[in-house]
Amino acid sequence: MTSSPASAVGSSNGSVDAALALVARLANRFGTLFPADVTTDGHYPPRPARHGEPEGGNTDWTTGFVPGMYWVASELSGNQSFLDAARSHVPGFVRRIDQRIDVDHHDLGFLYTLSCAPAWRHDGDRTARSATIAAADHLLGRYHEKAGVIQAWGDLTDPLEQGRAIIDSLMNMPLLHWASRETGDPRYADAARRHAHQLRAQMIRPDDTTFHTFVWDPATGDPMAGSTNQGFADDSAWARGQAWGIYGFALNAQLTGDDELLDAAVRCARLFISRLPADGVPYWDLVFGEGSEEERDSSAGSIAVCGLLEVARLTGDPEFESVARHILDSLTRSYATRPDSGLDCLLQHGVYDKNRGKGVDEGNLWGDYFYLEALLRVERPDWVPYWLPAPTTTDGRVEA
Ligand code: GLY
Repeated sequence: MTSSPASAVGSSNGSVDAALALVARLANRFGTLFPADVTTDGHYPPRPARHGEPEGGNTDWTTGFVPGMYWVASELSGNQSFLDAARSHVPGFVRRIDQRIDVDHHDLGFLYTLSCAPAWRHDGDRTARSATIAAADHLLGRYHEKAGVIQAWGDLTDPLEQGRAIIDSLMNMPLLHWASRETGDPRYADAARRHAHQLRAQMIRPDDTTFHTFVWDPATGDPMAGSTNQGFADDSAWARGQAWGIYGFALNAQLTGDDELLDAAVRCARLFISRLPADGVPYWDLVFGEGSEEERDSSAGSIAVCGLLEVARLTGDPEFESVARHILDSLTRSYATRPDSGLDCLLQHGVYDKNRGKGVDEGNLWGDYFYLEALLRVERPDWVPYWLPAPTTTDGRVEA
């Protein structure tokens, strides 16, 4: 880096300043390496060695949130050092897709929408563009034509995982729309549109709660059954899944102009709002309500803030914005880390996977990323998130 991101801080907004100071610390500490998915006692250890990569290597589904935070921090602060930090991750993401390192899952959207796609948007970096197209190609390779869904996990012939899609995957569809816009090839966007519709049809229950995962028969295309992986029960509503539904359906509605997808986002949003405790930050599963001893999931809160702001923009209904601001106020007041606390995460009190005891009542990278994105959305309501088409100038160039 050319200068210390710690010098970036200087906004008039105290919560933005605090968040930027923590992002700067992350950049200074990790450089081009990666922290683990979640904190341990509020501190991010280095990412464990996996998939043949050493400690701190670029593996698993959450590493895109790291450059994503640097891009967003650069937008919030205008500071060059955050831009340098974001750009320094491009070669690692190019290598990851070139060498197919831990990329056989649906999360390529989370990885490339927040790392290489912004490098193309900001810098016209052609290696970043090629890597993003390669990631979209790989994601499209997981599409089951008959069922019309992109398989979440595992080998496409794995009998346990074959034909299973998960609600989180809605956030990976913007990568496919991006690839169609960039290449002119409609196959990516066609698959994304059909996938979003299949999830709308099967994963939202009549009471507007959502399944976490749902399996289609890849041979016949028939819908089979829903179940949970990280939620409390198969028929409960995992809070982060419902939040992915709000933001994911809203982005897919925006990308397709399809009112049925917007209606899906609104249904997910209304149900989510109806299950919130007084401070607006959900318990890790929406089956738990006010007064429960269970943990909150602050990351579901920060994702929902971004989703509700998108739903408010698309519907023009101010109630969604007012709930988003209430959640964000609570996150800022009671869940955000003060830089002088010595802790690393931007947001405390998240839950990764309660069923497996992973990241319970800890910070996590996606909660931190969406909190920062939420702060930027509120500071700059005209900012176009990386999930959506970048604005272009009159001569067709992408605006920085
Ligand atoms: N996308 C994985 C999770 O939300 O835990």
